[in-house]
Amino acid sequence: MANLDEMLVSSWFNVESSVPSSYVQPPESRPGNLIPASGKTIPVVDLGAHDPAVVAANILKACKDFGFFQVINHGVSEELMKNTMTVCKEFHAMPGKDKLEECSRDPNGRCKLYTSSENYTKDAIQYWKDTLTLPCPPSMEYTQYWPRKPSNYREVVGEYAQELRKLGLKILELLEEGLGLSRGYLCGELSENPTLLVHHYPPCPDPSLTLGLAKHRDPDLITILLQEQHVNGLQVLKDGQWIQVDPLPNSFVVNIGLLLQIISNGRLVGAEHRVVTNSKTSRTSVAYFVYPSNESIIEPAKVFINGGNSTAPTYRSMEFAEFRRNFFYKGSRIEAELHP
Ligand code: OGA
Ligand code: NI
Repeated sequence: MANLDEMLVSSWFNVESSVPSSYVQPPESRPGNLIPASGKTIPVVDLGAHDPAVVAANILKACKDFGFFQVINHGVSEELMKNTMTVCKEFHAMPGKDKLEECSRDPNGRCKLYTSSENYTKDAIQYWKDTLTLPCPPSMEYTQYWPRKPSNYREVVGEYAQELRKLGLKILELLEEGLGLSRGYLCGELSENPTLLVHHYPPCPDPSLTLGLAKHRDPDLITILLQEQHVNGLQVLKDGQWIQVDPLPNSFVVNIGLLLQIISNGRLVGAEHRVVTNSKTSRTSVAYFVYPSNESIIEPAKVFINGGNSTAPTYRSMEFAEFRRNFFYKGSRIEAELHP
């Protein structure tokens, strides 16, 4: 196999005039005709609204109806969002060798660069994407392994990670309230190990044949996504139809993941989503994944099981480390194994 720096889609996409066969999806997985679906959009939640109980109710409704929403008035400055996007684009625009070098400091390989999906060899067909992944726990202990180039990368992304931590906790607190969980239930070890995924989707000669990211549910509690203002790509599956997410100015897209689905005993269901490519411009997105510590036990919260109507647990309990390992090897097929 070639070296990773040569395998990155961003290293070769501009010398290919057609989609290499290893990137051509089978007909049933292709994007289909890329028309935006029927004007439907995901809900918008105003986090700046005065009454927290109303905000909590709005989030819960959005989670139940779509599993996806955009947040506005979220407290993260426009300038920081812009600078983060710029530095992430600059990172992916560097030569492949530099990118690889900047992502090779972590002896445990948790700060890393990969192409296609995280487990390249598992995929029969590859995805049109390169990704940089960076753990960013509140201790910031991994920052020493982060890229040093572009020169302001650590400073900007470090500040961004801290702001996203605050925003993540704010949303989790609102979810605790909406779901009737005790205060702090989601905000301790269950959300202790956030990770940033900096995705880059180069232009593709024929977007009708490829995907940037396969249909999936996220393997976390929630994901907070920063997108470029005028570049679409993210699609959410709703009632059998793909809905395009049009980024609102200064907003984030939030979605619930499989872990919150388990914890809520199925009251909330993570929505399936995917990323399509386009032929004109590249697209960069920055996904903040709220992950638990490895030792955390993932299981339905007692309030959803022993309540008045004594519902049985729909999901079995497991350590997050086990869930993560299984997800890495099996991807979405893990969903069939989550039940008792
Ligand atoms: C993800 C994801 C969407 C995007 O990282 O899981 O769905 O637009 N990303 O990059
Ligand atoms: Ni996702």
